[in-house]
Amino acid sequence: MSTKLEPTLIVIFGATGDLAHRKILPALYEMAVEGQVPEQTLILGVGRNKGKSDAAFRQDVNQSIEKSGVSDADAITKWCDTRIFYQGIGKGTREEFSKLHAKITSLEKKHKLNGNRIFHLAIPPEGFGPTIKSLGVSELNKSLGWTRLVIEKPFGRDLQSARELNDLIHKYFEEKQVYRIDHYLGKETVQNLLAFRFGNSLFESVWNREKIEKVEIIVAEELGIESRADYYEKSGALRDMVQNHLTQLLTLTAMEIPLAFQSDDLRFEKVKVLRSIAPIRAEDVVFGQYTEGEIGGNGVRGYRQEEGVRSDSTTPTFVALKMRVENWRWHGVPFYLKTGKRLKDRMSEIVVTFRCPPVALFKSSEGKGTQPNVLVIAIQPNEGFRISFQVKQPGPEMAVQSEWMHFSYSEAFGPIPEAYHTLLLDVMRGDQTLFVSADETLASWQLYTPVLHAHRAVHPYPAGSWGPKEAEKM
Ligand SMILES: NC(=O)c1ccc[n+]([C@@H]2O[C@H](COP(=O)([O-])OP(=O)(O)OC[C@H]3O[C@@H](n4cnc5c(N)ncnc54)[C@H](OP(=O)(O)O)[C@@H]3O)[C@@H](O)[C@H]2O)c1
Repeated sequence: MSTKLEPTLIVIFGATGDLAHRKILPALYEMAVEGQVPEQTLILGVGRNKGKSDAAFRQDVNQSIEKSGVSDADAITKWCDTRIFYQGIGKGTREEFSKLHAKITSLEKKHKLNGNRIFHLAIPPEGFGPTIKSLGVSELNKSLGWTRLVIEKPFGRDLQSARELNDLIHKYFEEKQVYRIDHYLGKETVQNLLAFRFGNSLFESVWNREKIEKVEIIVAEELGIESRADYYEKSGALRDMVQNHLTQLLTLTAMEIPLAFQSDDLRFEKVKVLRSIAPIRAEDVVFGQYTEGEIGGNGVRGYRQEEGVRSDSTTPTFVALKMRVENWRWHGVPFYLKTGKRLKDRMSEIVVTFRCPPVALFKSSEGKGTQPNVLVIAIQPNEGFRISFQVKQPGPEMAVQSEWMHFSYSEAFGPIPEAYHTLLLDVMRGDQTLFVSADETLASWQLYTPVLHAHRAVHPYPAGSWGPKEAEKM
């Protein structure tokens, strides 16, 4: 166990929800079993149901951890019985937060904790503001130890709302106490992008407009909106995926070399990228919405036929953007971002296409002329990277063809740790490197808010395709 970690009370708001049960609680169990957190660490689940008991909550947690693939039933039961508690807060009134305060202080006293608290808001975004305010008003943000606030995405719905949320947070918490999660940053493969760029001088010397022709960032999903119509109708593809996940991939790909691998330096460089992106032009955006189609041989319905979606909805389930990073390194290199639901395949990739040699000395066996080197960084699935080379085709003719060299994360290292495991451990360590700063939220909303507010056509595309044809043209 790291000696730096101190016993902590982790308070999870939304502890009955999907995220808490699929990701957060299994990750906390794994950290405990692996001895990465002090044994005294306690978890207090908070929900609106005041009728729920510690025992009932423990039973739910037990089942979720088993479902996550852990098979040691006795160890899970023991952990739940000794480490997990529950408190219902109903509508979250002042009185109910006082009771929560009393429960927290009594747990801390009984278990001899020194007041270190993490408040993890795993609740729908409309609950962020009221919960943060109640934490402040009830003075739960003040303790004898340190307090940290963890907030899930989405952070705001536009520039104005993100500004208001940041202002509210900063009324009760200092920025160094705030951990805005974008779970893409917890993925090993996303962090590997930094190692790849800054640990290998081979690539850094060609990572610029002289050698790179274009960069494409693609996050494609086969899934539709499942049972999340209510959330998705208010969100759409740009808010759901681009403003956060794709933008993280963009900033890590385009950023300058940070002074050191530490929170302030890294976050500063990411904000610089966002500030150097030119306003997105109308002709550089394509929105789409899936219609009925076929995925993996099965028929699937269109977005407007999904349960809970309006039959005349114009919410985009697809977006493609062309971005111009107007700085010395990237001037003239287009960055294409593309994401959509119900696409042909599930994959997240960064594709870097290098410039072709200026003179074509050789014939291409594929009849396509000289091909560029292409570097594909695969975030998921088949995590790793591959790079294409021109090689001579065996035979009497001097003709070249493209072949790939690849690195597979799982072949080299076996199973990849879960993003939440990495991120929660970092919160406990007090390391903000892999979290989004207030400045970054504002810089990114500054970029996307005009796109959201402009009225643009939403082009239909059949489920199981790669999106509307208008995006291909772009
Ligand atoms: N699920 C994921 O994979 C995922 C991934 C990335 C980010 N997120 C983000 O994580 C957060 C939680 O997601 P989720 O999928 O777990 O959502 P969820 O299941 O809909 O909600 C979590 C819990 O929050 C409580 N809740 C609902 N509305 C509330 C409100 N207005 N105020 C306070 N509590 C409320 C509910 O518990 P009670 O009824 O018991 O109070 C619910 O079980 C969201 O912000 C989401 O965008 C989720």
